[in-house]
Amino acid sequence: MVKDDNEALRVILSRRSIRNYTGRPLDHASIERILEAGLSAPSAHDSRPWHVGVVRSEERKSDLIRVLHTSYMGDMKRHGFSEETIRRKLERSYDIYSSADTIIVLFGKTDLPRNKLAGSFEQERIMVIQSVTAAATQMWIAAESLGLSMCWFSAPLFCANAVLDFFGLGTEWQPLCLLTLGEGRETPKAKKDFAMSEYVTFL
Ligand SMILES: Cc1cc2nc3c(=O)[nH]c(=O)nc-3n(C[C@H](O)[C@H](O)[C@H](O)COP(=O)(O)O)c2cc1C
Repeated sequence: MVKDDNEALRVILSRRSIRNYTGRPLDHASIERILEAGLSAPSAHDSRPWHVGVVRSEERKSDLIRVLHTSYMGDMKRHGFSEETIRRKLERSYDIYSSADTIIVLFGKTDLPRNKLAGSFEQERIMVIQSVTAAATQMWIAAESLGLSMCWFSAPLFCANAVLDFFGLGTEWQPLCLLTLGEGRETPKAKKDFAMSEYVTFL
């Protein structure tokens, strides 16, 4: 570990996935600050290939949860999950989403201008995903720095069209991830230790 840790490193190293929130309403200025941190992320060709949907009202949050759960339930039924397991998983998921003050969905651009492509379409698509991931990560770190908590969910990937309809967006966008944001109400288990040599090649 670095000896002279600073505040930024402390925040980065203490960030965790938090899936339980107090429900305390957050002030709008903090949310805008978190979004600003995300929108200032690096992006391929400085193209900012993202759009962000932010859901705060209780009514719209319930609507979005319904959209996500309709798809989730269908998938679980198709995979032969028991009624009891489906009920338990939906209940757990409902508790997470509904206790969050804010739900943020990040979209990546799909209509990439082919004539300007530096790489192949597939490589450009990967760079969109990388750029959106950078934005989401900066939001997560910003939230942590403000004493707030987040978790990342892949759910919108599995019901892309329904999520696009919900936000009134067309297929020039693809929902890539959902972030729950709120005041955390859990202390996660300590992170598993790792040996740097397992993941890093120093030459
Ligand atoms: C790309 C990505 C997808 C994830 N999807 C989910 C998800 O669908 N549901 C969930 O509960 N957590 C999800 N997570 C959170 C991970 O489970 C979590 O980051 C991991 O267990 C490490 O824990 P930590 O974030 O507390 O360090 C996702 C994280 C990433 C980066």
